[in-house]
Amino acid sequence: MLWLNCLPCFTAKVKKLITVTIENLDTKPLEAKRGEKLLDVILRHGIDYMHACGGKGRCTTCKAKITFFEDELPADTEVELKYREAGRLKTHERLSCQLTIFTSLSLIVPKETQLPHLSYTSYNA
Ligand code: FES
Repeated sequence: MLWLNCLPCFTAKVKKLITVTIENLDTKPLEAKRGEKLLDVILRHGIDYMHACGGKGRCTTCKAKITFFEDELPADTEVELKYREAGRLKTHERLSCQLTIFTSLSLIVPKETQLPHLSYTSYNA
């Protein structure tokens, strides 16, 4: 009931725009809705992003290295935990088809999942 003590604060937080920034692609920050999957945000803005299994959590080609997040991110999903335990997801990497976002974040597309027809700036991802 804390929000009842500060309704303007609560309203401002709920309405606050969240964004996704892809640091190694020349794009503006992407507007996102709270509760969207990261992959859906990227694709909705017309940006090609590898997702070989179609977002079913079966391939890890949609991984993203998260470099910044404003508030906490949700914990790994069961699918992400499985790949993390198998060594297919490194620290700070998340599956964009599994990650539901509620906060602004920045990411780098790892080298191994970069698409050949896009120009990525150099980052040691
Ligand atoms: S698209 Fe295959 S795991 Fe995300």
